[in-house]
Amino acid sequence: MFETKFNTSKIIVVGGAGFVGSNLVKMILQNNPLTHIVAIDNLMSAEKENLPLDNNQLTFIHGSIADQSVLDQLQDDIDYIFHLATYHGNQSSIYDPLADHANNTYTTLRLMDWVKQFKKLKKLVYSSAGCSVAEKTFDEAKATTEQEFTNIKHDSPYSISKIIGEFYSVYYFNQHQLPTVRARFQNVYGPGEILGAGEWRGTPATVWRNVTPTFIYKAIKGIDLPLENAGLASRDFIYVEDICRGLIACALNGKPGDVYNIASGNDITIAEWANLIVKIADSSSNVELLPKRIWDNSGKRYGSTEKSERVIGFRARVGYNEGLQKTISWTKEHLSWIESTMKKHENYLRL
Ligand SMILES: NC(=O)c1ccc[n+]([C@@H]2O[C@H](COP(=O)([O-])OP(=O)(O)OC[C@H]3O[C@@H](n4cnc5c(N)ncnc54)[C@H](O)[C@@H]3O)[C@@H](O)[C@H]2O)c1
Repeated sequence: MFETKFNTSKIIVVGGAGFVGSNLVKMILQNNPLTHIVAIDNLMSAEKENLPLDNNQLTFIHGSIADQSVLDQLQDDIDYIFHLATYHGNQSSIYDPLADHANNTYTTLRLMDWVKQFKKLKKLVYSSAGCSVAEKTFDEAKATTEQEFTNIKHDSPYSISKIIGEFYSVYYFNQHQLPTVRARFQNVYGPGEILGAGEWRGTPATVWRNVTPTFIYKAIKGIDLPLENAGLASRDFIYVEDICRGLIACALNGKPGDVYNIASGNDITIAEWANLIVKIADSSSNVELLPKRIWDNSGKRYGSTEKSERVIGFRARVGYNEGLQKTISWTKEHLSWIESTMKKHENYLRL
């Protein structure tokens, strides 16, 4: 039988105000009345209002996990750690590799090195990314398994940081028996991803973040949807509630030192994804064909779900139609908030 709930536990969520982190915090609070969560976040790419700050099971620490004053607040009374902090995302990391290092690679190293002697810790779940191991192909994708070797050629410092995080997860497990579990995500979408969340990170991707919230916002506003490389690439889109269930399955059922894909197991081209969003949003938007992004060679990919289903009991439940309907409704309900976070960056970017 697979566990789905925590007993009395102290849980740390690093990057807890972010898109995935805040959804994870809410899901754990909802189902586990005896847990206490400490969310740590420097709000580099998040808004703290994404967290239920009035819940007395939650403590929020505003700061970087790479700062000693923040690490000093973590003592050996923690049951689980979810490490979700990142320098979001590929384009920000290409613009400023040093900021990526400070908030991505270095956060992982500082955190793991600080907690390596903690005796009570049952699991540290590291959020890795399928992009750092997937084969780069525009031919038909085959499922990426957990056994894939990483290519030495990466498209961005972000991708390099994610795979270095895996190297450190394995190193700290082997050397110090730190019970790390790597959760390799595919592309997450869903409520709580706020366009423009956090600080300006050098490029328009600060505002537009990822393809799904961008397409949904533009579809709602009747603006054309930008299709780079004619939308030929494909992705394995996974709804955020499923990712959170997968992270919890990694924490409760994952084997220390091991890695699990948290994926839907299907891929869809970006062009098909755009058309589906336009249809579900009942939008008048068209698509705008753009050239391929020079740095982006990732092509078509999806994750194999065989191992995570067999070993940790994880299977994605939410299909594309349901997931997109919920995300579009959430975006419409929160439009004025989203537009106010986008507007923060208007000095840098003509929206
Ligand atoms: N969203 C996806 O499609 C996806 C895919 C693969 C992997 N991931 C991984 O999942 C994790 C969560 O991603 P997300 O989409 O929620 O991104 P996000 O940007 O919303 O969340 C990352 C959080 O980390 C915080 N952060 C940055 N630097 C920090 C620091 N030094 N100390 C503390 N907090 C810091 C940010 O403010 C933000 O809240 C990331 O590690 C990401 O690499 C996400």
